[in-house]
Amino acid sequence: MGYDFSIDDVAYLRSDAGRSALAFADSLALQPDTMLGDIEKLAKGYSPHQAALVETVTCRRKAVGKLRDPQRLLLTADALQQATAYPVADHRAAELAARYPGATVHDVTCSIGADLAALARTRGLGDVIGSDLDEVRLAMAQHNVPEAAVSRADALVPSSDADVFIADPARRSGGRRTFRMDDTEPPLLDVLDVYAGRPLVMKSAPGIDYTLLRERHGFTGEVQVVSLDGGVREACLWSEPAPGVTRRATVIRTGTNTTYEITDAADDSAAVDDAGIWIMDPDGAVVRAGLVRHYAKAHGLWQLDPQIAYLSGDELPVGERGWRVLEQLVYSEKQLKRRLAELDCGAVEILVRGIDADPDALRKRLKLKGSRSLAVVITRIGRRGVMFICEAGVRRT
Ligand SMILES: C[S@@+](CC[C@H](N)C(=O)[O-])C[C@H]1O[C@@H](n2cnc3c(N)ncnc32)[C@H](O)[C@@H]1O
Repeated sequence: MGYDFSIDDVAYLRSDAGRSALAFADSLALQPDTMLGDIEKLAKGYSPHQAALVETVTCRRKAVGKLRDPQRLLLTADALQQATAYPVADHRAAELAARYPGATVHDVTCSIGADLAALARTRGLGDVIGSDLDEVRLAMAQHNVPEAAVSRADALVPSSDADVFIADPARRSGGRRTFRMDDTEPPLLDVLDVYAGRPLVMKSAPGIDYTLLRERHGFTGEVQVVSLDGGVREACLWSEPAPGVTRRATVIRTGTNTTYEITDAADDSAAVDDAGIWIMDPDGAVVRAGLVRHYAKAHGLWQLDPQIAYLSGDELPVGERGWRVLEQLVYSEKQLKRRLAELDCGAVEILVRGIDADPDALRKRLKLKGSRSLAVVITRIGRRGVMFICEAGVRRT
């Protein structure tokens, strides 16, 4: 995917001539309807570098919101896609500084240096080292993170005596949806083997099978599931867990500038009961980390059914969105249609867990014509299908 940069391209882009060419390229729209003309202009002044210029500017524009200072970075489309978003990278780096003060950290799959940049700018860490097999990405990392010592090395052959290692194996291309542990480059299990006995922090896909990892492969560390602005981003494996912790959810929200965490060391004795005033759906990181009951207990909530992640309570946790229950009915599409029409509903948010229903298809079939916005939470309690007609709300403070 994307333009295939060479080492010469990177050298050019880093030169004075390349920098002014990039400034000119950035003054162009580079949109589908202007692209041919824009490339012609670039070819007149900067041939043979026009493709590298267009790709760099396009990637920088796409990187806004994901990487810090994208206007000064060198990157490829694939590397940008694989890069850790800066709020997640910053959080990890800050935790490393807290757990391993003054440590030299070696990112053994540093790519263009998104994680590396966060490590380098975090106070409290020692030297920062980056390595990768890809020469072009390394040259870009050198430009992007000049503070780091960067060199070419195979992650599977330890090449430094750093205090802590971080790794982020790439998912092999091929687009398989289910993630397998040997489907990464370098293979995740090989990285675990090679760094056994040393502090290792390894990013992996959120779909990783933790049980298999523990039971079949003997992983004894902590699995941290991280979400950013409501989307689950990664499962990060920490070889040296905090005492008593095997699972942790980290929820990062940039909009409200809040982060919270919950671990399996917390009390999980949440009750199961009838719906209270609110229903809420815990963040995906909490659900994926298997910490729904722990989260419920910590916030005075309870479960509607022990197998289902929806929680209920008389107050929402601060900053959380939920649904205020107006009515509880036995699940029936016909009855839902009739009741929403009676309630003058014109727009409905449909949430489904534990019942085989497609919210979009159902919404179309409801053919709503009213003026009110409502929400419907469809789920099961035991074997019964139930639906809650609700109004959406948020608790801000
Ligand atoms: C997902 S990317 C890392 C992204 C990086 N954490 C960031 O945020 O920018 C994975 C990187 O691993 C590198 N890689 C693959 N196999 C490797 C190996 N055996 N040794 C070192 N690096 C390897 C790839 O070249 C790629 O740049």
